[in-house]
Amino acid sequence: SSYDTGGHAHFLLKEIHEQPTSVERTLSGRVDERFSTAHLGGLNMDAREARAFTRVKILGCGSAYYSGELGAQLIEELARIPAHAEPASEFRYRNPVIEADTLYIAVSQSGETYDTLAAVQEIKRKGGRVLGVVNTVGSAIARECDGGMYLHAGPEISVASTKAFTSTSIAFALIALHLGRVRDLSPADGRRICAGLKAIPDQIREILAQEKEIAELAGKYADHPGMMFVGRVRGWPVAREGAQKLKEVSYVHAEAYPASELKHGPLALIGPDLPTVAVVPDDELLEKNLTTLGEIRARRGPVLMVGHTRPDPKLAEDAILVPRNEPELDPILLGIPLQLFAYYAAVALERDVDKPRNLAKSVTVE
Ligand code: AGP
Repeated sequence: SSYDTGGHAHFLLKEIHEQPTSVERTLSGRVDERFSTAHLGGLNMDAREARAFTRVKILGCGSAYYSGELGAQLIEELARIPAHAEPASEFRYRNPVIEADTLYIAVSQSGETYDTLAAVQEIKRKGGRVLGVVNTVGSAIARECDGGMYLHAGPEISVASTKAFTSTSIAFALIALHLGRVRDLSPADGRRICAGLKAIPDQIREILAQEKEIAELAGKYADHPGMMFVGRVRGWPVAREGAQKLKEVSYVHAEAYPASELKHGPLALIGPDLPTVAVVPDDELLEKNLTTLGEIRARRGPVLMVGHTRPDPKLAEDAILVPRNEPELDPILLGIPLQLFAYYAAVALERDVDKPRNLAKSVTVE
């Protein structure tokens, strides 16, 4: 059942392993291969309405916010609508301008996060339209929204979110595909994304099969006092979520930076004591990312690269490789090994994996 660890040492590990099936449930009945689009009846929006938005604003807290950043990237790429994510906890306090032609999307696994609920209520008070991307059916945020999508990822017990993060990213890919196909995304590109989405569950299985190697790497890196996580564009939300996961469950200090920003300050921190996890998909930014790795290695910073092709050992002494999907969908897969990395770092340091100190599963207070 969802409420026991099913033979796994912790709920966190169980939920990481559930992802091939939880993703299948998020996708189920929603990929329309015939018309190369996504079926999302719950959005309560016809094609004309879906075309009318000029901007998308995504709100959530913590990992839900980071998945929103990944979602914003997907929506801009596939639908070519300016899209941006913001922490709901900040948004609600800054008297935001609510625009009639902006589509607001609230993200929450629990559906009970107070800051996110307050943001939704503020948008509605000012006449905005809000969709929910929520896991828990009938939760406060789901009830407050004008429509949306349930993740159907199943109950998430561990305080650190994994399967809900991945399913939220899948939900955003479906929303981006749908918004793209009522605008200018071609049927051929739609078909490419449909096929890519359908391949994800098996590709997650392939990544999970590398568990032993990832556990060894996590044990090796866990004794450092801190780690840097970097990525560019598609890799950036992946780096942020990877750092968040490591902090939450292992208490190792982790800082995430866009790889392009290192030279504007944090490069001063780089040296043999501060390893970098670099998220480096084999996309049009590969060369730029490899240059960054060279800059880190020149300061003798250890590098663990997560990407598609094994790098020159001079640029990264360690690498975790994931299967390639479509470039727009690759970030979803690049995040999976970082969950196992955080889990095994926490185990190596004997942390309370499922209930990290100072944290609650859902923050229902201000
Ligand atoms: C995730 O690992 C965290 N525990 C936390 O950031 C969480 O994602 C955040 O509090 C939002 O929760 P929600 O998705 O239930 O709204």
